[in-house]
Amino acid sequence: MAQLSESVTLDREGDVAVITVDNPPVNALSWHVRQGLSDGFAQAVEGGAAAIVLICAGRTFIAGADISEFSQAPKGPSLLDTQSAMENAPVPVIAAIHGTALGGGLEVALCAHYRVGLASAKFGLPEVNLGLLPGAGGTQRLPRLVGVPKALDMMTSGRHIGAAEAHADGLIDEMVDGDHDALRNAALAFAARAVANNMPLAKVRDRDEKVAEARGDEQLFADFRASIARKTRGFLAPEYNIRCVEAAANLPFEEGLQVEQQLFRELMTGPQSAAQRYYFFAERAANKIPDVPKDTPTVDIGRVGVLGAGTMGGGIAMNFANIGIPVTIVERDQESLDRGLGVVRKNYERSRSTTPQQVEERMALFTGSTDKADFADCDLVIEAVFEDMDLKKSVFAELDQICKPGAIMASNTSFLDIDQIASATSRPESVIGMHFFSPANVMKLLENIRGEATSASAIATAMDIGKRIGKVAVLSRVCPGFIGNRILAQRAVEANRLILEGATPEQVDRVLYDFGLPMGPFAMSDLAGLDIGWKAETSSGSNVREILCESGRRGQKNGRGYYTYDPDTRAATPDPEVVEMIREFAVSQGYEQREVSDQEVLERCLYPMVNEGAKILDEGIAIRGSDIDVVWVNGYGWPVYRGGPMYWADSVGLAEVVAKIREYGERLEGDHWKLSPLLERLAADGGKLHQFSN
Ligand code: 3HC
Ligand code: NAI
Repeated sequence: MAQLSESVTLDREGDVAVITVDNPPVNALSWHVRQGLSDGFAQAVEGGAAAIVLICAGRTFIAGADISEFSQAPKGPSLLDTQSAMENAPVPVIAAIHGTALGGGLEVALCAHYRVGLASAKFGLPEVNLGLLPGAGGTQRLPRLVGVPKALDMMTSGRHIGAAEAHADGLIDEMVDGDHDALRNAALAFAARAVANNMPLAKVRDRDEKVAEARGDEQLFADFRASIARKTRGFLAPEYNIRCVEAAANLPFEEGLQVEQQLFRELMTGPQSAAQRYYFFAERAANKIPDVPKDTPTVDIGRVGVLGAGTMGGGIAMNFANIGIPVTIVERDQESLDRGLGVVRKNYERSRSTTPQQVEERMALFTGSTDKADFADCDLVIEAVFEDMDLKKSVFAELDQICKPGAIMASNTSFLDIDQIASATSRPESVIGMHFFSPANVMKLLENIRGEATSASAIATAMDIGKRIGKVAVLSRVCPGFIGNRILAQRAVEANRLILEGATPEQVDRVLYDFGLPMGPFAMSDLAGLDIGWKAETSSGSNVREILCESGRRGQKNGRGYYTYDPDTRAATPDPEVVEMIREFAVSQGYEQREVSDQEVLERCLYPMVNEGAKILDEGIAIRGSDIDVVWVNGYGWPVYRGGPMYWADSVGLAEVVAKIREYGERLEGDHWKLSPLLERLAADGGKLHQFSN
């Protein structure tokens, strides 16, 4: 066996050369991998091999370019040169794929003459999620194998497809059941057949029949663009990916490749991809807790308990049933339980990804009860009753009597003090916050909150189970609203003040929507319901929301809130009557009315968020600046192409942010305009919020 570089070896099985990549954890195409591959193909050919098998060690085939190299000076051979050595080899090259062949990894496989894959393997071009497009010929080769519609879908969504689908589409030539050894044997057998039968050196670049089907079909591309417009609003990369596929359909291979290269460079040097690449690592960093090492023992979660089957409880429970974990769900009475379980069933039935049989399988994992004693065999119990401290303390005192030793007791509270809740138990080390976002079965964010006494094992378990149910978990310490809602609250104060000074709800919402957020604060209030926490008996017309509620406006649910809603389409229209009501109230409170610029709206909504983020870091509530960005991207729809509020502030320039906060702070009241000392320090020292770590 020859070691070609630190990560690539060359082996011989009879007359077949075997090149093996071993670059943990995911066999990314680091410079030494490219070097080893280039040398490997050359040496295999020089050595007279009759065929070459490319295979990877460890958990996966090549999962893409090495993203950490993107911001460094180029080193070693380019990927295109490496691929060329492979595609132009004078003997058959067979790629043997297990795990995930993603991005540059799939692009390498597409330069083999044949591909065999394990039945468990997955394939995808996820570059779009990094604000990129496949820059190693993938945009031209994939459509030639799977056709234009499928390539458009895969490249603009980043979706991975399974081996069966890949086989049916012609992306792989053979699907293999079994383990890594079975894959290697199948690839060697394929190589032997290719040699014995003198099979052609099939180059994907020479295929034309599938792209020819879409040649000149402008309508196909126009329809596709329209179908993803809403989901991809503001993002550059999806459109650039489409342009490359258009080039694949309409231009010769080499010209298409040039289009790809030019658009790739443009994206790679632009701000959106820089933000999205930063975000890729931010999300993975969030999982690392300095004082909770990776090998911290976790509690085995065999059964989960959920207390309360309301808006949150039902959705929370679904997450566990979705991965096959049985759930005991307890409500205060049979009627509430039936209603809660009914909503869960409806959610499953409505979901297009769940077959009728799966609906029944998942529902069978639920045990409903009105007796908390049924939590006795649960390893994790998540409380999702009303947001009321006395109630939470009393149910935790009960849970303390019921739950088995070592079980984790979690609260889904959005604002309340986890330490106070834990004080109602005899085992505060087992109490933790697990704050899901609504709808809990859909939203990716899970904010875990460690109390003063929460054990490392409880933290490790909450982080781990979060990942297993497909969430992105971020750890926070205790403070009102934790990371996400505490920051949101600052924006709300300013948004409410802006409409008193003369901005309209529609203007504030539009500015934030145009910035890239899914909706502004007033549309959000209408969606949630203006009457949450409002009581007619105690309402005193002391703010705009009370006034709207008093006039019968409840938000989307009754078609009237800050906006009026079309009963059929639910489309929102700004309501002059509301604007007038706000104006009258503002004048009665002594607010002078004026034109507020869009720029002021943006700054006053977002800079207090940045300031609060810095305070959260200074107080040690969040571990790192990037964790705050992860919370805001996943929990509140902050546009990932702007990185997150901390990254965005850095890209604006902290000196500018500080100057503006000072300026606004001189004329506006409120703690949220009091400059964070950390922010001030970082601005002075040239530091960055998104790189700050406690
Ligand atoms: N480059 C560098 N590091 C990478 C990487 C990559 N492409 N992919 C993963 N890693 C690192 C992660 O940062 C993480 O490091 P850490 O342990 O220090 O935090 C480690 O590998 C494990 O990653 P995950 O925690 O994500 O492991 P999972 O098992 O959950 O997922 C995966 C594995 C599905 C491969 C996932 O890591 C993934 O989706 N990776 C990115 C794939 C991708 O985007 N490929 C395209 C790259 S761009 C490209 O190829 C350009 C080309 O067209 C020219
Ligand atoms: P909800 O009112 O929809 O549901 C609460 C459920 O708890 C009700 O079905 C009620 O019958 C049940 N319940 C109340 N007391 C009980 C008891 N003693 N025993 C058993 N069941 C009991 O409330 P929602 O919205 O689900 O909120 C629950 C918790 O989740 C709150 O702490 C809230 O702050 C938090 N949360 C809510 C979010 C939201 O968007 N609604 C988002 C994130 C957290």
